Amino acid sequence: MRSAAPYAIVAATAVALGLGASGCSIKSDNADKVAGKKLFVQKCGSCHTLSRAGTKGVTGPNLDMAFARSRLDGLGQSGFQGVIEKQIGHPSRPGMLGTGTMPAGLVKGKQATDVAAYVAQSVARPGKDTGLLATAVGGVQSKKPAVEAGGVLKIPAAPGGQLEYVYAKAQAKAGPATIEMPNTSGVDHNIAIKGVGAGKIVAKGVSSFKADLKPGTYTYFCEVPGHEAAGMKGTLTVK
Ligand code: HEC
Repeated sequence: MRSAAPYAIVAATAVALGLGASGCSIKSDNADKVAGKKLFVQKCGSCHTLSRAGTKGVTGPNLDMAFARSRLDGLGQSGFQGVIEKQIGHPSRPGMLGTGTMPAGLVKGKQATDVAAYVAQSVARPGKDTGLLATAVGGVQSKKPAVEAGGVLKIPAAPGGQLEYVYAKAQAKAGPATIEMPNTSGVDHNIAIKGVGAGKIVAKGVSSFKADLKPGTYTYFCEVPGHEAAGMKGTLTVK
């Protein structure tokens, strides 16, 4: 747990940078915020919490908290956008917060502008996104359970990069089974069952392992730090 103090420092920095960058930013006009939101969820959300985007990553700072002060201080859209686009191109102060580092250039050019425009609009704003933004990133979780078939239990990771599996519940018969988690998101994930086994972590591909399932109720989850806490887990019932 980080204390509140570092956020205050970071927020102050953000304001200073933002004022510097606001003078030369007229880009926000033709940015595609809907595309920006999708990209944010896929490329940034596994590390950052941003309430309006529904992301819950904890590797990097909570962006709503980091920018709360700048929002209160009245930093404008172009100011926010400048700070965020700068951070995407040149992640600042690696290690300053005692957390990990942010890879540079996760999105580039127009995509970086789109992401920055979306974050600038939604960060540290109470409420929900409206209009086209509201439906840009649909919920992916099925209301149905994943059901084992022919000894294979398939539980895909959310394709859009959200920290969840497509199924929050699963059912299997007792006996030998292969647990498979197809992952097309590009975000590191695996599938593990507490007390049973775990597949390897993959950004694209299939995480899988074999198990001899015994009757009972189990939790399956992603072992990448922070992902289970953010909701990447489910309940498996074996009968
Ligand atoms: C692998 C994890 C990771 C990913 C992915 C990631 N970040 Fe970060 N981010 C961090 C970390 C760690 C920090 C704090 C250190 C730093 O400033 O570089 C950070 C800092 C930031 C900050 C500065 C916040 C502040 O307190 O001033 C912003 C803005 C930001 N990231 C936006 C983004 C955006 C936008 C994306 C997607 C293009 C992204 N991040 C992707 C880990 C990540």
